[in-house]
Amino acid sequence: MPDVITIDGPSASGKSSVARRVAAGLGLPYVSSGLIYRGVTYQVGRYGVDPQDEAAILHLLSHHPIQLVPLPEGNRMLAEGQDVTAHMHTLEIDQAVSAVARHPEVRAYVYRSLRALQPPFVVEGRDMGSTVFPDAALKFYLTAAPEVRARRRVGERDADYATVLADLLRRDAADAKQIPPAPDAIIIDTSAMGLEEVVNTILERIRT
Ligand code: C5P
Repeated sequence: MPDVITIDGPSASGKSSVARRVAAGLGLPYVSSGLIYRGVTYQVGRYGVDPQDEAAILHLLSHHPIQLVPLPEGNRMLAEGQDVTAHMHTLEIDQAVSAVARHPEVRAYVYRSLRALQPPFVVEGRDMGSTVFPDAALKFYLTAAPEVRARRRVGERDADYATVLADLLRRDAADAKQIPPAPDAIIIDTSAMGLEEVVNTILERIRT
């Protein structure tokens, strides 16, 4: 069994649901790297820090720490010990997170948090296979057409299809430099696939 399995892809490519089920199928924890960026963004909003001010964000994190708790049934985000997971997937955080995640020192902070976790686990994000865990034994990269991703996400947000699609396209552009898959990633286009099919495809590749 490989130590670290990475599942990357753009926003709403289904990587969280897929990673959770793949991890459950293997009896491993799953780790959501996006939730750490969301946790940082939550603190930035809560303390009124300028999202453009990289040094201020780092200072904020050293005084008001956050912690990812990767439980098998779902990842939790703690801010100063308080569970704030329910506030992580709002449209406000969706709209602010890319600006926070583009700072190199913020990314380095997230990389350190991830590398401090004890393997084995399944980790999902944008650059897990390409940058954070380049030695991962198995890497997957999920893609899907933006319209398909927006339709999947619209049920999870208190917003209409047009708003969600516009936000996805904007985030795709903002996140683009982090998106290229690792050269050794297995690429799966999930546009015409159901969740179970994607999960089974990945589990088969891991088990062969
Ligand atoms: O995956 P999720 O939608 O929760 O990620 C939220 C945001 O965190 C992304 O839009 C992106 O800006 C950032 N992110 C990142 N690198 C990752 C995971 C997430 O920059 N590995």
